[in-house]
Amino acid sequence: MYANTLTLAFGLVATISPASAFFRMSCHGRLVRERLDPIVNPGAISGHVHTISGGSAFGASMTFEQARAAKCSSCEIKEDMSNYWTPQLYYAAKNGSFIPVPVAGDGDDSNGGMTVYYLQRGEPGEKLKAFPPGFRMLAGDPMKRNFTGGLDAQAVRFACLDSARDETTSLPNYQCPGGLRAQIFFPSCWNGKDLDSPNHRSHMSYPNSQHYDNGPCPAEYPVHLVSIFYEILYDTPRFKNDWYDNKQPFVFANGDPTGYGFHGDFVNGWDVAVLQKAVNNCTDDSGLVSRCGEVTMFTPDECRSCKLPRVVDEPVDGWQKRLPGCNPVSSGPERAVAPPTCDATNQLSSPIGDFMDLTKSKGWSYTGCGTDNIGGRTFTGKSMASDDITVEKCVDFCSAGGFVYAGLEYGRECYCDNTLDPAKAPKEGIMGNCRMRCAGDPTQFCGAGGVMSIYHKCDGSTCENAVFGVSSTSGSPSPVVKENTLSSPTLSKTGGVMRRGRYAKA
Ligand SMILES: *[C@@H]1O[C@H](CO)[C@@H](O)[C@H](O)[C@H]1NC(C)=O
Ligand SMILES: *[C@@H]1O[C@H](CO)[C@@H](O)[C@H](O)[C@H]1NC(C)=O
Ligand SMILES: *[C@@H]1O[C@H](CO)[C@@H](O)[C@H](O)[C@H]1NC(C)=O
Repeated sequence: MYANTLTLAFGLVATISPASAFFRMSCHGRLVRERLDPIVNPGAISGHVHTISGGSAFGASMTFEQARAAKCSSCEIKEDMSNYWTPQLYYAAKNGSFIPVPVAGDGDDSNGGMTVYYLQRGEPGEKLKAFPPGFRMLAGDPMKRNFTGGLDAQAVRFACLDSARDETTSLPNYQCPGGLRAQIFFPSCWNGKDLDSPNHRSHMSYPNSQHYDNGPCPAEYPVHLVSIFYEILYDTPRFKNDWYDNKQPFVFANGDPTGYGFHGDFVNGWDVAVLQKAVNNCTDDSGLVSRCGEVTMFTPDECRSCKLPRVVDEPVDGWQKRLPGCNPVSSGPERAVAPPTCDATNQLSSPIGDFMDLTKSKGWSYTGCGTDNIGGRTFTGKSMASDDITVEKCVDFCSAGGFVYAGLEYGRECYCDNTLDPAKAPKEGIMGNCRMRCAGDPTQFCGAGGVMSIYHKCDGSTCENAVFGVSSTSGSPSPVVKENTLSSPTLSKTGGVMRRGRYAKA
């Protein structure tokens, strides 16, 4: 199947490595979506919005040691605290506004995962190496707006699912009934010396052949590492009735409506010894990581509860008048040029969680995202459910009943009590997945299935919102999320994304 696609796309007579070994890791959730890129813009705000997966130590600046110390990951392998990111895709409306395109299966826009493949692509008998500690790299070029032909250009692809069309190297100008999948294959040949390089690419090379994804390494890049490949399946069909002007309406966050500027970033956060064992031993050609005894796994709910508060204070969800940052849409073919200035924020903020700040208006603070269970409610004092619920309404309801805790769940439910069981309380270091929009105000968040946005009446002098997940150094080492009995419609579909992956067996 892979050979066929290559042959159709480029007319090459492909020499396919007999080895088809790989393992596939599902990143069930998105860690955060914002303008950060510790590879290209360390310590600062980056040019455009990324969707970031992986370990919770992600930040504007981060070291390998910090990555290893992460408390959770939105990707499923526990020994991997790496970060993986790509630019956010937006729908551009005719009136000039933009809205993020959710990842397929991500009905309420609360998750947004991806799939990362680790592929043992080498010459017969070749010993592939794990990524060394501190390793990082970038694939693709955000400023590109035409097909430049080389292996790096061929490694960026789009699969238009259920369209019976071949993969393309640009965003297709026709509808994709099964969704649009962006794909990028990273270079695998390392110079053996540099963990990074000034342009974040030149310490790596694609193999010295006609193929970006197999073949022997060139002499200057002698160390053959395991290959990685990203897939992101966007729910473009939800915009199927919103096309206009005879062209596709999607644009990446870097102002790219062509797709040639799609790119991916990788920061190693692996337990390197475990990765090496997985590279050596996880060779089942089903790709099922669960068949690989070398690694252990987070559950999908644990992945989804691993969230980071944003540190860039600008709106990234919902309709935007322009792409965040300075990213005018430029369709090329000449290289895009970033405008020297614009009025976008360039200051990092304190962490911003997904809650309402009621400390001044009502004297209640956000406690965090706790858990709940239909078989044994966390808050049993008083409750209501309504289609016009907002955070304020729930807090007022509980306050009027004389309660000091208010919890919002599943978009429209409100529970009150005077005590919070520590077993159900928010976990330190875990922001949680309380990202279902409130029925009465879609700009607010009201818990989700099995998880509750908890607010507390302030007592004494301090009235501060809790923001989890950034710099805390103590606390429970891994997220604990109770089994969800109020089943949310968003919790089951990522498996479908995986099964239909590029390297998945049908
Ligand atoms: C632009 O159009 C979309 C629908 O296509 C609408 O939801 C949005 O509010 C509009 N934005 C502005 C600023 O008019
Ligand atoms: C690979 O798996 C075998 C059998 O389970 C085990 O004995 C060996 O230690 C593993 N080797 C490496 C390098 O991971
Ligand atoms: C195509 O893209 C390359 C790389 O960005 C650029 O150098 C070249 O000028 C572009 N070609 C045209 C015709 O603009």
